[in-house]
Amino acid sequence: MNIKTFGVVGAGQMGSGIAQVASTFGYDVIIHDINSDCVKRGIDNIKKVLNKRVDKGKITAEEKEKILGRIKTSTDLKDMKAADFVIEAANEEEEIKSQIFKTLDSICGKNVILATNTSSIPIGKIASQTNRQDKIIGMHFMNPPPVMKLIEVVRCLNTSDETYNITRKLSEKFGKTPVNVGDYPAFILNRILMPMINEGIFCLFTRIGTEKDIDTAMKLGANIPMGPLELADLIGLDTCLAVMRNLYTGFNDPKYRPCPLLKRYVEAGWLGRKAGRGFYKY
Ligand code: CAA
Repeated sequence: MNIKTFGVVGAGQMGSGIAQVASTFGYDVIIHDINSDCVKRGIDNIKKVLNKRVDKGKITAEEKEKILGRIKTSTDLKDMKAADFVIEAANEEEEIKSQIFKTLDSICGKNVILATNTSSIPIGKIASQTNRQDKIIGMHFMNPPPVMKLIEVVRCLNTSDETYNITRKLSEKFGKTPVNVGDYPAFILNRILMPMINEGIFCLFTRIGTEKDIDTAMKLGANIPMGPLELADLIGLDTCLAVMRNLYTGFNDPKYRPCPLLKRYVEAGWLGRKAGRGFYKY
């Protein structure tokens, strides 16, 4: 399959990062969001990251312009008709994703693979909204997508070998390392990482330490680059809560109950870096 144009639905931190990756590796990109403000925010995010790379001498100003020049923007999902492979990176809400997949299924060419960047919603559920279940797959990038090397490639029961092989190869072309993951709630990375973050929030909730104490303990004691609370702020507290809820309901296991403090912060709109306030102020 010859993939030239890569479609990205959603221009948030994940969608814009994925678009940057695809364009950097020479693909024409169409990035879509529901309105021009959202699309502009995504493009501004890419420009900010690329400008830093130019300042550091990692790429030239000319390369930056080429990367930006390959990215077209859209606020009409019908534009995805021109894409050879589409990834959805919208909000982590089943209803929203289902609607997007129904629409993409009716718009895109019949051989086009429709991938989702979901971090915890079962791929089979998303696939069942379409008439091309063999061409639906999870392609889960990590945040920030231009930096993190992992892609979880998640097959549902109906995903074909061909779809899986194409998605794996594409991941490698993006300079990433794909891992094959079964279609169970939160896959591998988030199934292990999110309970760790949630437990960090419980530590704060029960006041066994301050935000800084908890993060410092984990960074210096477990040799991880960011503590659980800093990392939650980077990922977005709404996403962390959505993943914990999907684990909790997906396995019917109380060990995955989200910390009440996490719920309180999300209710208050303290969603992390993107909101200017989470466990820390930005
Ligand atoms: N976008 C693009 N590039 C970025 C970036 C961003 N948002 N943030 C940092 N970078 C780049 C920098 O430009 C720099 O690049 P060079 O080495 O080429 O100069 C490099 O990353 C290192 O950045 P910094 O020197 O500024 O800072 P750092 O060394 O502290 O690294 C970090 C920052 C990469 C974010 C690092 O702290 C880290 O790896 N943190 C852990 C991130 C992580 O665990 N992500 C997974 C989250 S879970 C997930 O994503 C799954 C999910 O579904 C929720």
